[in-house]
Amino acid sequence: MLVSATEMLQKAAAGHYAVGQFNINNLEWTKCVLKAAEECQSPVILGVSAGAGKYMTGFGTVAAMVKAMIEDMNITVPVALHLDHGTYEQCYQCIKAGFSSIMFDGSHYPIEENLAKTTELVHVAHQLGLSLEAEVGSIGGEEDGVIGAGECADPDECKMIADLGVDMLAAGIGNIHGKYPENWAGLSFETLAAIKEKVGDMPLVLHGGTGIPDEMVHKAISLGVAKVNVNTECQLVFAEATRKYIEAGKDLSGKGFDPRKLLADGATAIVEKVKEKMELFGSVGKA
Ligand code: 13P
Repeated sequence: MLVSATEMLQKAAAGHYAVGQFNINNLEWTKCVLKAAEECQSPVILGVSAGAGKYMTGFGTVAAMVKAMIEDMNITVPVALHLDHGTYEQCYQCIKAGFSSIMFDGSHYPIEENLAKTTELVHVAHQLGLSLEAEVGSIGGEEDGVIGAGECADPDECKMIADLGVDMLAAGIGNIHGKYPENWAGLSFETLAAIKEKVGDMPLVLHGGTGIPDEMVHKAISLGVAKVNVNTECQLVFAEATRKYIEAGKDLSGKGFDPRKLLADGATAIVEKVKEKMELFGSVGKA
């Protein structure tokens, strides 16, 4: 069922595990993430960047597809449909389209403006039963045109945003969207611990989940991370499996060119990757 992310994240924070946000790009992606979640009996968050929403022809199409798919696939686990790194305008577009959760990324504004816009959006979201994620500091790298410098969040600013009653808080702790460079310094656990100290039980969000070593993910969860976002890793395994299919000439034999066959290995790879991450985050059996 489609739900806000509030309850699943509160349970995760209390139970010391994390719920995965897996970004979706098209029908296949959505189907694979839902299939993995149901098989793992895990709660799940479907992340939609503005770029992916546009690619799928609009947020309305995405919401209609997800709702219908949850029903047609008999999905029983809690599913949140969440805007990833939304602007102020995109948040309203997703509320109107029927999303169950939004992220307002006001991290590039001065803190006063981030606070003012987040205050308004929290109020609107909660009145309509949606959850809201806010951001302080910034996630390095680039995701669908959203570029961040990667500065670590100020724990006092995190507290100011948390006190607005947001449901989850993304705080920059040296994490980066996309692949991590060879010389990456790792996550700043001092920053994370200082933030946790200030914000208490607030579920924290770890963006840039692709390529973070397992032990760092576990440590981050032990320090209050209750949601981990994964996007690039599913794209990489999908591309690799699809390339192998083509390189093996499978599209040239029989009806191997049928898109349902051509995309099948890539889809299986996504399901396996999502299940692997759910195991890592500890959300299996927590639906
Ligand atoms: P990755 O693409 O690095 O997994 O990051 C995903 C993410 O943080 C979505 O907001």
